[in-house]
Amino acid sequence: MEKAGAAYKVHIETFGCQMNEYDTELVRSLLKAKGFAFTEDRECADVVLMNTCAIREHAHNKVYGHLADLKALKRQRKLVIGVLGCMAQNLKEELTETVPIVDVLAGPDSYRRLPDLLTGAIAAQEKGDVQRGIAVDLSEYETYQDIMPEQATGITAWIAVMRGCDNFCTFCVVPYTRGRERSRAPQGIIREVEHLAAQGYKQITLLGQNVNSYRFEDWDFARLITAVADVPGIERVRFTSPHPKDFPPALLDAVAGHPRICKHIHLPLQVGNDRILRLMGRTYSRKEYLDLVEDIRRRRDDIALTTDIICGFCTETEEEFLDTYLTVQEVGYHAAFIFKYSERKNTIAARKYQDDVSERIKSNRVTRLVELQKAISLRKNRSMIGQTVRVLVEGDAKKSSDQWMGRTDTNITAVWEKRDAGTHPGDFTPIKISHVSATTVFGDELPAR
Ligand code: 5AD
Ligand code: SF4
Repeated sequence: MEKAGAAYKVHIETFGCQMNEYDTELVRSLLKAKGFAFTEDRECADVVLMNTCAIREHAHNKVYGHLADLKALKRQRKLVIGVLGCMAQNLKEELTETVPIVDVLAGPDSYRRLPDLLTGAIAAQEKGDVQRGIAVDLSEYETYQDIMPEQATGITAWIAVMRGCDNFCTFCVVPYTRGRERSRAPQGIIREVEHLAAQGYKQITLLGQNVNSYRFEDWDFARLITAVADVPGIERVRFTSPHPKDFPPALLDAVAGHPRICKHIHLPLQVGNDRILRLMGRTYSRKEYLDLVEDIRRRRDDIALTTDIICGFCTETEEEFLDTYLTVQEVGYHAAFIFKYSERKNTIAARKYQDDVSERIKSNRVTRLVELQKAISLRKNRSMIGQTVRVLVEGDAKKSSDQWMGRTDTNITAVWEKRDAGTHPGDFTPIKISHVSATTVFGDELPAR
Protein backbone atom coordinates (compact mmCIF):
# COMPACT_ATOMS: atom_id res chain seq x y z
CA MET A 1 0.00 0.00 0.00
CA GLU A 2 3.04 2.36 -0.19
CA LYS A 3 1.42 4.27 -3.05
CA ALA A 4 -2.18 3.91 -1.99
CA GLY A 5 -1.98 6.92 0.31
CA ALA A 6 -1.51 9.22 -2.69
CA ALA A 7 -5.12 8.98 -3.68
CA TYR A 8 -6.36 9.90 -0.21
CA LYS A 9 -6.80 13.37 1.19
CA VAL A 10 -6.38 13.87 4.92
CA HIS A 11 -7.85 16.74 6.93
CA ILE A 12 -6.37 17.27 10.41
CA GLU A 13 -7.97 19.30 13.20
CA THR A 14 -5.85 20.14 16.21
CA PHE A 15 -7.02 20.91 19.74
CA GLY A 16 -5.06 21.89 22.84
CA CYS A 17 -1.48 22.86 23.51
CA GLN A 18 1.55 23.68 21.37
CA MET A 19 2.82 20.15 21.84
CA ASN A 20 -0.30 18.93 20.04
CA GLU A 21 0.25 21.43 17.22
CA TYR A 22 3.77 20.12 16.95
CA ASP A 23 2.57 16.51 16.94
CA THR A 24 0.17 17.37 14.10
CA GLU A 25 3.20 18.53 12.12
CA LEU A 26 4.93 15.23 12.93
CA VAL A 27 1.87 13.30 11.78
CA ARG A 28 1.73 15.27 8.52
CA SER A 29 5.35 14.44 7.91
CA LEU A 30 4.82 10.72 8.62
CA LEU A 31 1.75 10.54 6.37
CA LYS A 32 3.32 12.56 3.56
CA ALA A 33 6.22 10.10 3.43
CA LYS A 34 3.66 7.36 2.75
CA GLY A 35 2.05 9.30 -0.08
CA PHE A 36 -1.01 10.77 1.64
CA ALA A 37 -2.20 14.22 0.49
CA PHE A 38 -3.78 16.92 2.65
CA THR A 39 -6.74 19.25 2.47
CA GLU A 40 -7.84 22.21 4.56
CA ASP A 41 -11.43 21.44 3.63
CA ARG A 42 -13.10 18.81 5.76
CA GLU A 43 -15.89 18.44 3.16
CA CYS A 44 -13.61 16.95 0.52
CA ALA A 45 -11.45 14.84 2.83
CA ASP A 46 -11.27 11.03 2.67
CA VAL A 47 -9.78 10.89 6.15
CA VAL A 48 -10.51 13.26 9.05
CA LEU A 49 -8.10 13.15 11.98
CA MET A 50 -8.67 14.93 15.24
CA ASN A 51 -5.61 15.51 17.37
CA THR A 52 -7.28 15.81 20.75
CA CYS A 53 -6.61 17.28 24.18
CA ALA A 54 -7.81 15.85 27.49
CA ILE A 55 -6.49 18.44 29.90
CA ARG A 56 -9.80 20.09 30.74
CA GLU A 57 -13.45 19.26 30.27
CA HIS A 58 -13.94 22.08 27.79
CA ALA A 59 -11.42 20.65 25.27
CA HIS A 60 -12.93 17.23 25.77
CA ASN A 61 -16.50 18.42 25.05
CA LYS A 62 -15.38 20.23 21.92
CA VAL A 63 -14.05 16.97 20.46
CA TYR A 64 -17.33 15.18 21.18
CA GLY A 65 -19.13 18.03 19.40
CA HIS A 66 -16.98 17.61 16.30
CA LEU A 67 -17.47 13.85 16.36
CA ALA A 68 -21.24 14.39 16.24
CA ASP A 69 -20.79 16.52 13.06
CA LEU A 70 -18.59 13.85 11.51
CA LYS A 71 -21.19 11.20 12.23
CA ALA A 72 -23.61 13.08 9.97
CA LEU A 73 -20.96 13.38 7.25
CA LYS A 74 -20.11 9.70 7.47
CA ARG A 75 -23.74 8.79 6.88
CA GLN A 76 -23.61 10.56 3.52
CA ARG A 77 -20.35 9.19 2.16
CA LYS A 78 -17.23 7.11 2.72
CA LEU A 79 -15.04 8.63 5.39
CA VAL A 80 -12.34 7.30 7.67
CA ILE A 81 -12.24 8.98 11.07
CA GLY A 82 -9.24 8.94 13.39
CA VAL A 83 -8.84 10.25 16.92
CA LEU A 84 -5.25 11.05 17.92
CA GLY A 85 -3.60 12.48 21.00
CA CYS A 86 -4.45 12.59 24.65
CA MET A 87 -8.14 11.65 24.46
CA ALA A 88 -7.33 8.65 22.29
CA GLN A 89 -4.91 7.54 24.94
CA ASN A 90 -7.06 8.19 27.95
CA LEU A 91 -10.53 7.31 26.80
CA LYS A 92 -10.00 4.38 24.50
CA GLU A 93 -12.84 2.27 25.91
CA GLU A 94 -15.28 5.15 26.11
CA LEU A 95 -14.45 6.34 22.60
CA THR A 96 -14.70 2.97 20.93
CA GLU A 97 -17.93 2.03 22.71
CA THR A 98 -19.85 5.30 22.61
CA VAL A 99 -18.58 6.63 19.29
CA PRO A 100 -18.60 3.67 16.92
CA ILE A 101 -17.84 5.91 13.93
CA VAL A 102 -14.19 6.14 15.00
CA ASP A 103 -12.04 3.89 12.79
CA VAL A 104 -8.59 4.63 14.16
CA LEU A 105 -7.32 5.58 17.60
CA ALA A 106 -3.65 6.53 18.05
CA GLY A 107 -2.08 7.86 21.25
CA PRO A 108 0.85 10.32 21.33
CA ASP A 109 3.54 7.60 21.26
CA SER A 110 1.98 5.60 18.40
CA TYR A 111 2.07 7.92 15.41
CA ARG A 112 4.58 5.80 13.48
CA ARG A 113 1.84 3.17 13.16
CA LEU A 114 -0.73 5.64 11.87
CA PRO A 115 -0.07 5.27 8.10
CA ASP A 116 -0.64 1.50 8.33
CA LEU A 117 -3.70 1.84 10.53
CA LEU A 118 -5.26 4.31 8.09
CA THR A 119 -4.36 2.22 5.07
CA GLY A 120 -6.02 -0.80 6.71
CA ALA A 121 -9.17 1.15 7.58
CA ILE A 122 -9.39 2.63 4.06
CA ALA A 123 -8.92 -0.75 2.38
CA ALA A 124 -11.64 -2.28 4.58
CA GLN A 125 -14.00 0.58 3.83
CA GLU A 126 -13.44 0.15 0.08
CA LYS A 127 -14.69 -3.41 0.49
CA GLY A 128 -17.69 -2.26 2.49
CA ASP A 129 -16.10 -3.57 5.65
CA VAL A 130 -14.92 -1.97 8.89
CA GLN A 131 -11.44 -2.41 10.31
CA ARG A 132 -10.77 -0.66 13.54
CA GLY A 133 -7.14 0.21 14.30
CA ILE A 134 -6.08 1.00 17.84
CA ALA A 135 -2.54 1.95 18.89
CA VAL A 136 -2.28 3.38 22.36
CA ASP A 137 0.86 1.91 23.87
CA LEU A 138 2.95 4.39 25.81
CA SER A 139 6.67 4.21 25.24
CA GLU A 140 9.63 4.98 27.47
CA TYR A 141 11.76 5.84 24.45
CA GLU A 142 9.71 7.33 21.60
CA THR A 143 10.88 10.90 20.90
CA TYR A 144 10.34 10.91 17.08
CA GLN A 145 14.03 11.80 16.98
CA ASP A 146 14.44 11.14 13.24
CA ILE A 147 11.21 12.72 11.98
CA MET A 148 11.36 16.27 10.64
CA PRO A 149 7.95 17.83 11.29
CA GLU A 150 6.25 19.90 8.59
CA GLN A 151 6.70 23.42 9.98
CA ALA A 152 4.06 25.78 8.67
CA THR A 153 5.32 29.36 8.74
CA GLY A 154 8.92 29.50 7.52
CA ILE A 155 9.73 31.92 10.36
CA THR A 156 9.03 30.35 13.72
CA ALA A 157 9.45 26.64 14.45
CA TRP A 158 8.80 24.33 17.38
CA ILE A 159 11.01 21.47 18.49
CA ALA A 160 9.91 18.96 21.12
CA VAL A 161 13.06 18.29 23.13
CA MET A 162 11.44 16.13 25.76
CA ARG A 163 8.12 14.36 26.03
CA GLY A 164 6.03 13.08 28.92
CA CYS A 165 5.90 14.01 32.57
CA ASP A 166 6.90 12.32 35.83
CA ASN A 167 5.51 14.93 38.20
CA PHE A 168 2.01 13.59 38.71
CA CYS A 169 0.48 16.86 39.89
CA THR A 170 -2.70 15.48 41.37
CA PHE A 171 -5.07 17.41 39.04
CA CYS A 172 -3.28 16.57 35.81
CA VAL A 173 -3.95 13.86 33.26
CA VAL A 174 -0.75 14.40 31.24
CA PRO A 175 1.41 11.72 32.94
CA TYR A 176 -1.30 9.19 31.98
CA THR A 177 -1.85 10.35 28.41
CA ARG A 178 1.73 11.13 27.48
CA GLY A 179 3.65 8.77 29.70
CA ARG A 180 7.09 9.01 31.27
CA GLU A 181 9.64 11.74 30.75
CA ARG A 182 12.23 11.16 28.05
CA SER A 183 14.60 13.58 26.35
CA ARG A 184 15.94 13.71 22.82
CA ALA A 185 19.68 13.56 22.14
CA PRO A 186 21.09 17.12 21.91
CA GLN A 187 23.09 16.42 18.74
CA GLY A 188 19.91 15.64 16.77
CA ILE A 189 18.16 18.73 18.16
CA ILE A 190 21.04 21.00 17.19
CA ARG A 191 21.22 19.47 13.71
CA GLU A 192 17.49 20.16 13.31
CA VAL A 193 17.98 23.77 14.44
CA GLU A 194 20.87 24.22 11.98
CA HIS A 195 18.68 22.84 9.21
CA LEU A 196 15.87 25.26 10.13
CA ALA A 197 18.30 28.20 10.28
CA ALA A 198 19.57 27.31 6.80
CA GLN A 199 15.95 27.47 5.56
CA GLY A 200 15.59 30.99 6.98
CA TYR A 201 13.78 30.26 10.27
CA LYS A 202 14.39 33.00 12.84
CA GLN A 203 12.79 31.72 16.04
CA ILE A 204 12.83 28.34 17.74
CA THR A 205 10.55 27.35 20.61
CA LEU A 206 11.77 24.39 22.64
CA LEU A 207 8.79 22.35 23.76
CA GLY A 208 8.18 19.79 26.47
CA GLN A 209 5.56 18.99 29.11
CA ASN A 210 8.31 19.83 31.58
CA VAL A 211 10.79 21.36 29.25
CA ASN A 212 13.32 22.41 31.88
CA SER A 213 13.57 18.85 33.25
CA TYR A 214 15.40 18.07 29.99
CA ARG A 215 18.34 15.76 30.68
CA PHE A 216 20.44 13.70 28.28
CA GLU A 217 23.69 12.23 29.61
CA ASP A 218 25.57 15.30 30.91
CA TRP A 219 23.35 17.80 29.11
CA ASP A 220 20.78 19.75 31.12
CA PHE A 221 18.31 22.32 29.84
CA ALA A 222 20.58 25.34 30.46
CA ARG A 223 23.28 23.78 28.29
CA LEU A 224 20.80 22.77 25.59
CA ILE A 225 19.08 26.15 25.27
CA THR A 226 22.44 27.92 25.14
CA ALA A 227 23.67 25.60 22.38
CA VAL A 228 20.45 26.18 20.40
CA ALA A 229 20.72 29.96 20.82
CA ASP A 230 24.33 29.80 19.60
CA VAL A 231 23.32 28.33 16.22
CA PRO A 232 24.13 31.03 13.61
CA GLY A 233 21.04 32.51 11.99
CA ILE A 234 18.68 31.80 14.92
CA GLU A 235 17.71 35.14 16.43
CA ARG A 236 15.27 34.11 19.14
CA VAL A 237 14.81 31.07 21.35
CA ARG A 238 11.76 30.52 23.54
CA PHE A 239 10.73 27.58 25.72
CA THR A 240 7.53 26.21 27.19
CA SER A 241 6.29 24.86 29.56
CA PRO A 242 8.68 24.80 32.49
CA HIS A 243 8.05 23.70 36.07
CA PRO A 244 9.19 26.07 38.85
CA LYS A 245 11.13 23.24 40.53
CA ASP A 246 13.80 23.09 37.78
CA PHE A 247 15.35 26.56 37.59
CA PRO A 248 19.00 26.19 38.60
CA PRO A 249 21.12 29.39 38.56
CA ALA A 250 22.72 28.33 35.25
CA LEU A 251 19.32 28.43 33.52
CA LEU A 252 18.42 31.81 35.01
CA ASP A 253 21.82 33.13 33.93
CA ALA A 254 21.26 31.79 30.40
CA VAL A 255 17.85 33.47 30.09
CA ALA A 256 19.08 36.73 31.61
CA GLY A 257 22.42 36.83 29.83
CA HIS A 258 22.11 35.29 26.38
CA PRO A 259 21.12 37.94 23.82
CA ARG A 260 19.13 35.47 21.74
CA ILE A 261 17.18 33.76 24.54
CA CYS A 262 13.92 35.65 24.92
CA LYS A 263 13.30 37.66 28.07
CA HIS A 264 10.14 35.79 28.95
CA ILE A 265 9.49 32.98 31.41
CA HIS A 266 6.21 31.14 31.70
CA LEU A 267 6.09 30.12 35.34
CA PRO A 268 2.94 28.14 36.21
CA LEU A 269 1.89 29.05 39.76
CA GLN A 270 -1.44 27.10 39.83
CA VAL A 271 -2.34 28.51 43.29
CA GLY A 272 -0.75 30.76 45.88
CA ASN A 273 -1.83 28.82 48.97
CA ASP A 274 0.45 26.28 50.64
CA ARG A 275 -2.21 23.78 51.67
CA ILE A 276 -3.63 23.62 48.13
CA LEU A 277 -0.12 23.53 46.60
CA ARG A 278 0.54 20.46 48.78
CA LEU A 279 -2.76 18.84 47.77
CA MET A 280 -1.83 19.49 44.14
CA GLY A 281 1.59 17.90 44.62
CA ARG A 282 3.38 20.90 43.16
CA THR A 283 6.51 20.43 45.36
CA TYR A 284 7.05 24.16 46.09
CA SER A 285 5.59 26.54 48.66
CA ARG A 286 4.29 30.05 47.96
CA LYS A 287 7.49 31.44 49.49
CA GLU A 288 9.77 29.25 47.37
CA TYR A 289 7.91 30.36 44.26
CA LEU A 290 8.17 34.03 45.24
CA ASP A 291 11.89 33.58 46.01
CA LEU A 292 12.34 32.25 42.48
CA VAL A 293 10.51 35.29 41.07
CA GLU A 294 12.83 37.51 43.07
CA ASP A 295 15.89 35.60 41.82
CA ILE A 296 14.72 36.15 38.24
CA ARG A 297 14.03 39.84 38.78
CA ARG A 298 17.32 40.40 40.57
CA ARG A 299 19.10 39.20 37.46
CA ARG A 300 16.99 41.33 35.12
CA ASP A 301 13.85 43.26 35.92
CA ASP A 302 12.70 43.31 32.30
CA ILE A 303 12.01 39.56 32.04
CA ALA A 304 8.26 39.19 31.42
CA LEU A 305 6.55 36.54 33.54
CA THR A 306 3.36 34.72 32.59
CA THR A 307 1.55 31.96 34.45
CA ASP A 308 -1.20 29.34 34.69
CA ILE A 309 -3.74 29.43 37.53
CA ILE A 310 -6.39 26.91 38.57
CA CYS A 311 -9.43 28.15 40.53
CA GLY A 312 -11.64 25.99 42.71
CA PHE A 313 -9.43 22.94 43.23
CA CYS A 314 -10.85 20.37 45.69
CA THR A 315 -11.65 21.91 49.11
CA GLU A 316 -10.25 25.37 48.22
CA THR A 317 -11.83 27.96 50.55
CA GLU A 318 -12.46 31.63 49.82
CA GLU A 319 -9.55 32.56 52.08
CA GLU A 320 -7.22 30.19 50.29
CA PHE A 321 -8.34 31.57 46.93
CA LEU A 322 -7.49 35.05 48.22
CA ASP A 323 -3.89 33.86 48.74
CA THR A 324 -3.79 33.15 44.99
CA TYR A 325 -5.36 36.54 44.26
CA LEU A 326 -2.76 38.31 46.39
CA THR A 327 0.10 36.33 44.83
CA VAL A 328 -1.05 37.30 41.33
CA GLN A 329 -1.18 40.91 42.50
CA GLU A 330 2.24 40.68 44.12
CA VAL A 331 4.06 39.06 41.18
CA GLY A 332 2.45 41.27 38.52
CA TYR A 333 2.43 38.83 35.61
CA HIS A 334 2.36 40.10 32.09
CA ALA A 335 -0.40 37.62 31.28
CA ALA A 336 -2.06 34.63 32.90
CA PHE A 337 -4.09 31.65 31.72
CA ILE A 338 -6.78 31.17 34.32
CA PHE A 339 -8.77 27.93 34.47
CA LYS A 340 -11.62 26.42 36.45
CA TYR A 341 -10.55 23.16 37.99
CA SER A 342 -12.06 20.27 36.08
CA GLU A 343 -11.75 16.77 37.43
CA ARG A 344 -10.02 14.39 35.01
CA LYS A 345 -10.58 10.67 35.02
CA ASN A 346 -7.75 8.54 36.49
CA THR A 347 -5.89 11.43 38.14
CA ILE A 348 -4.83 11.29 41.79
CA ALA A 349 -7.26 14.09 42.66
CA ALA A 350 -10.15 12.21 41.03
CA ARG A 351 -9.31 9.14 43.12
CA LYS A 352 -8.48 10.82 46.44
CA TYR A 353 -10.28 14.16 46.75
CA GLN A 354 -13.78 15.52 46.44
CA ASP A 355 -14.42 17.98 43.60
CA ASP A 356 -16.54 19.94 46.08
CA VAL A 357 -16.28 23.57 44.97
CA SER A 358 -19.44 24.48 43.08
CA GLU A 359 -19.39 25.58 39.42
CA ARG A 360 -20.78 28.94 40.51
CA ILE A 361 -17.93 29.56 42.94
CA LYS A 362 -15.30 28.33 40.48
CA SER A 363 -16.65 30.69 37.80
CA ASN A 364 -16.81 33.58 40.24
CA ARG A 365 -13.16 33.06 41.25
CA VAL A 366 -12.06 32.84 37.61
CA THR A 367 -13.93 36.06 36.79
CA ARG A 368 -12.35 37.96 39.67
CA LEU A 369 -8.85 36.81 38.72
CA VAL A 370 -9.37 37.54 35.03
CA GLU A 371 -10.45 41.11 35.93
CA LEU A 372 -7.41 41.55 38.16
CA GLN A 373 -5.04 40.21 35.51
CA LYS A 374 -6.59 42.40 32.82
CA ALA A 375 -5.93 45.49 34.92
CA ILE A 376 -2.32 44.40 35.56
CA SER A 377 -1.67 43.59 31.87
CA LEU A 378 -3.14 46.93 30.84
CA ARG A 379 -0.99 48.79 33.36
CA LYS A 380 2.15 47.00 32.16
CA ASN A 381 1.35 47.63 28.50
CA ARG A 382 0.56 51.30 29.18
CA SER A 383 3.99 51.77 30.70
CA MET A 384 5.40 50.85 27.26
CA ILE A 385 3.70 53.76 25.46
CA GLY A 386 6.36 55.95 23.84
CA GLN A 387 8.96 53.15 23.85
CA THR A 388 10.40 51.62 20.69
CA VAL A 389 10.45 47.82 20.65
CA ARG A 390 12.13 45.38 18.27
CA VAL A 391 9.50 43.11 16.78
CA LEU A 392 9.73 39.95 14.70
CA VAL A 393 7.18 40.32 11.89
CA GLU A 394 5.09 37.13 11.78
CA GLY A 395 2.42 37.97 9.21
CA ASP A 396 -0.88 39.79 8.65
CA ALA A 397 -2.79 40.91 11.73
CA LYS A 398 -5.81 38.75 12.54
CA LYS A 399 -8.30 41.57 12.04
CA SER A 400 -6.93 43.19 8.88
CA SER A 401 -4.50 42.43 6.10
CA ASP A 402 -3.68 46.17 6.04
CA GLN A 403 -1.81 45.59 9.29
CA TRP A 404 1.17 43.50 10.35
CA MET A 405 1.37 41.38 13.48
CA GLY A 406 4.61 40.62 15.27
CA ARG A 407 5.95 39.87 18.72
CA THR A 408 8.40 41.52 21.05
CA ASP A 409 11.25 39.66 22.69
CA THR A 410 9.03 39.44 25.81
CA ASN A 411 6.29 37.75 23.72
CA ILE A 412 3.91 40.70 23.61
CA THR A 413 1.78 40.94 20.46
CA ALA A 414 2.30 44.13 18.44
CA VAL A 415 0.07 45.37 15.59
CA TRP A 416 0.81 48.24 13.20
CA GLU A 417 -0.29 49.67 9.84
CA LYS A 418 1.54 48.37 6.78
CA ARG A 419 3.36 51.30 5.23
CA ASP A 420 6.84 50.38 4.23
CA ALA A 421 6.64 48.06 1.19
CA GLY A 422 10.08 46.75 2.17
CA THR A 423 8.77 44.99 5.32
CA HIS A 424 8.30 41.21 5.13
CA PRO A 425 7.42 38.39 7.52
CA GLY A 426 10.66 37.22 9.13
CA ASP A 427 12.09 40.77 9.39
CA PHE A 428 12.95 42.44 12.67
CA THR A 429 11.60 45.96 12.75
CA PRO A 430 11.39 48.82 15.30
CA ILE A 431 7.86 49.77 16.40
CA LYS A 432 7.17 52.93 18.39
CA ILE A 433 4.25 52.18 20.70
CA SER A 434 1.44 54.74 20.64
CA HIS A 435 -1.50 52.97 22.30
CA VAL A 436 -2.27 49.63 23.93
CA SER A 437 -4.93 47.18 25.08
CA ALA A 438 -4.54 44.52 27.78
CA THR A 439 -3.39 41.99 25.17
CA THR A 440 -1.77 44.01 22.37
CA VAL A 441 0.46 47.02 21.81
CA PHE A 442 -0.14 49.23 18.75
CA GLY A 443 2.23 51.68 17.09
CA ASP A 444 4.13 52.83 14.04
CA GLU A 445 6.98 51.22 12.21
CA LEU A 446 10.14 53.34 12.30
CA PRO A 447 12.77 53.17 9.59
CA ALA A 448 15.10 50.21 10.36
CA ARG A 449 18.30 51.33 12.10
N1 5AD B 1 -8.30 21.45 35.52
C1 5AD B 1 -8.01 22.73 35.23
N2 5AD B 1 -6.84 23.15 34.73
C2 5AD B 1 -5.90 22.21 34.50
N3 5AD B 1 -4.65 22.31 34.01
C3 5AD B 1 -4.11 21.07 33.97
N4 5AD B 1 -4.98 20.16 34.43
C4 5AD B 1 -6.11 20.85 34.78
C5 5AD B 1 -7.37 20.48 35.33
N5 5AD B 1 -7.65 19.22 35.62
C6 5AD B 1 -4.01 23.58 33.65
C7 5AD B 1 -2.79 23.87 34.50
C8 5AD B 1 -1.65 23.65 33.56
C9 5AD B 1 -2.26 24.07 32.25
C10 5AD B 1 -1.56 23.57 31.04
O1 5AD B 1 -3.57 23.51 32.30
O2 5AD B 1 -2.86 25.21 34.92
O3 5AD B 1 -0.49 24.42 33.89
FE1 SF4 C 1 0.68 18.10 34.38
FE2 SF4 C 1 2.14 18.80 36.54
FE3 SF4 C 1 3.25 17.36 34.52
FE4 SF4 C 1 2.60 19.95 34.12
S1 SF4 C 1 4.11 19.18 35.60
S2 SF4 C 1 2.18 18.21 32.72
S3 SF4 C 1 0.73 20.16 35.35
S4 SF4 C 1 1.61 16.68 35.91
